[in-house]
Amino acid sequence: MRIAIVSSARARGTDDDEPLLLPALARAGAAADVVDWDDATVDWAAYDLAVLRSTWDYTFHHQKFLAWTEQVAAVTRLRNGPPVVRWNSDKTYLTDLAAAGVPIVPTTVLRPGDPIELPTDGELVVKPTISAGSRDTARYRPTELDQATDHARRLLDDGRAVLVQPYQAAVDDAGETALLFLGGTFSHAARKGPLLSAGGAITDKLFALEQMSPRTATAAQLDVAARALACAADAVPGGDELLYARVDVVPGPGGEPLLLELELVEPSVFLPQAPDGTADRFAAAMVTAART
Ligand SMILES: Nc1ncnc2c1ncn2[C@@H]1O[C@H](COP(=O)(O)OP(=O)(O)O)[C@@H](O)[C@H]1O
Ligand SMILES: [Mg+2]
Repeated sequence: MRIAIVSSARARGTDDDEPLLLPALARAGAAADVVDWDDATVDWAAYDLAVLRSTWDYTFHHQKFLAWTEQVAAVTRLRNGPPVVRWNSDKTYLTDLAAAGVPIVPTTVLRPGDPIELPTDGELVVKPTISAGSRDTARYRPTELDQATDHARRLLDDGRAVLVQPYQAAVDDAGETALLFLGGTFSHAARKGPLLSAGGAITDKLFALEQMSPRTATAAQLDVAARALACAADAVPGGDELLYARVDVVPGPGGEPLLLELELVEPSVFLPQAPDGTADRFAAAMVTAART
């Protein structure tokens, strides 16, 4: 059995899951190659399964990437599949989750041509709808509304849609909780430290460096995750058979978990922070997907 672990040239050597995943795949009897999604020399049909992992530059080439997922899925199994990737790679999926009753961080979408009217009653976050790794994402105080407006205008002038959210200040102490699902089953949780410093600073890296540690999920967090995954299952073909999913939640104003991100494209699954045996379970789920 051959499995392609799909990466990108810029991300090579930076995926912390890979050193644990690759030996686990070998133990599971799969021959795994790490290959770049945009490497034209790769024979995708030679693989039983291609798994999107560190394709973290795809947001710079969104349409090309979506077209590539279709091409690969025509010759082998690609997980997660093209419709899931199309739906989930644009954060406007948050409005689908909200419409389905999933508690999300309050989100306003601005599209090119829309007037830029930002709330003035607290810290806010401006980010592109198509982004990853905290790129082009910044936090502004009410006194920095001009900078926030400039940031939104730059993105909109560039033809990009923008999300505006209230900054969830509980993240500063509690951090963000990532809930990991592997092969359709809840696996483990991890804590991610806060990433945005006050004053509009923006990372110039492929991804902002994340401070990770293990965490135990609460029943309320798992409930939000289950509701988000149920919505994905309804929203899109293949949403009911995800090889992997990550649900990121943050405490809202009353401490209740609010969904910040549902990551079905290329989430880190935080194997270094996961219980022993997690990499083997992920590998086993891949082997099953490669046979199905
Ligand atoms: N509304 C928000 N409140 C608090 N922190 C936020 C908010 N939006 C984003 N962040 C911070 O920015 C990071 C990146 O934003 P996120 O929406 O997860 O996009 P991505 O991970 O795809 O870049 C989050 O991990 C979090 O630390
Ligand atoms: Mg995130």
